[in-house]
Amino acid sequence: MPSDFDAKAATWDEDPRKAAVAAAIATAMIRALPLDRSMSLLDYGAGTGLVSLALAPHVGSVTAADESEGMLSVLRAKIAATGAANVRPVRWSVDQPTDALPAFDVITGSMVLHHVADVPAAAKAFHALLKPGGRIAFADLDSDGGEFHGSAMHAHHPGFERAALKAVFEQAGFTSIAFQEAHRLAKKTDSGAERTFTIFLMTGERA
Ligand SMILES: C[S@@+](CC[C@H](N)C(=O)[O-])C[C@H]1O[C@@H](n2cnc3c(N)ncnc32)[C@H](O)[C@@H]1O
Repeated sequence: MPSDFDAKAATWDEDPRKAAVAAAIATAMIRALPLDRSMSLLDYGAGTGLVSLALAPHVGSVTAADESEGMLSVLRAKIAATGAANVRPVRWSVDQPTDALPAFDVITGSMVLHHVADVPAAAKAFHALLKPGGRIAFADLDSDGGEFHGSAMHAHHPGFERAALKAVFEQAGFTSIAFQEAHRLAKKTDSGAERTFTIFLMTGERA
């Protein structure tokens, strides 16, 4: 079934706010993660690859996974245009079998977790997909009462309380979980008032 993201894919990169958010998150990930050219990275919820393509020069390979064929098709066109040969788009959602995927050194996700219905199950799947000692870095909204998306788009979670999300990932087997602010932005809510939203970067390690 086509998703909201399929409909938005063709014009996604034209929104300067989306590009700025992705650039800030990619910068925060590159600073926070020990990346090198021997590493394999899964960028989950990669979308049009704004973050995947920024991370690609810092690692050996990027598997850019997304459930939206529309978003992946924009990413495929960008790979063809830029020659980013180490980025591999894959249609996959975390609630599907992992058999076709290898084990990764790093798993990242930018603004995707609030769209994932069962985050505890996703955290367990990410743990299973990581090599021992592998790292995660997920950027998402601090708890916002659902005002970031408002009526414009459905999200499963109204941002996250950091302590609760940390507990979920610890329960899945991650250690050294830490948070930093990756970005803040002002956006008009449904009421017409402008509000500041903060985006955290959560990092952690598979013991
Ligand atoms: C807000 S966009 C972020 C895209 C990209 N990470 C970025 O920062 O520009 C969220 C992306 O997650 C994808 N997504 C949402 N739920 C998903 C799921 N359960 N499995 C895989 N991808 C999902 C959407 O199709 C969309 O491309």
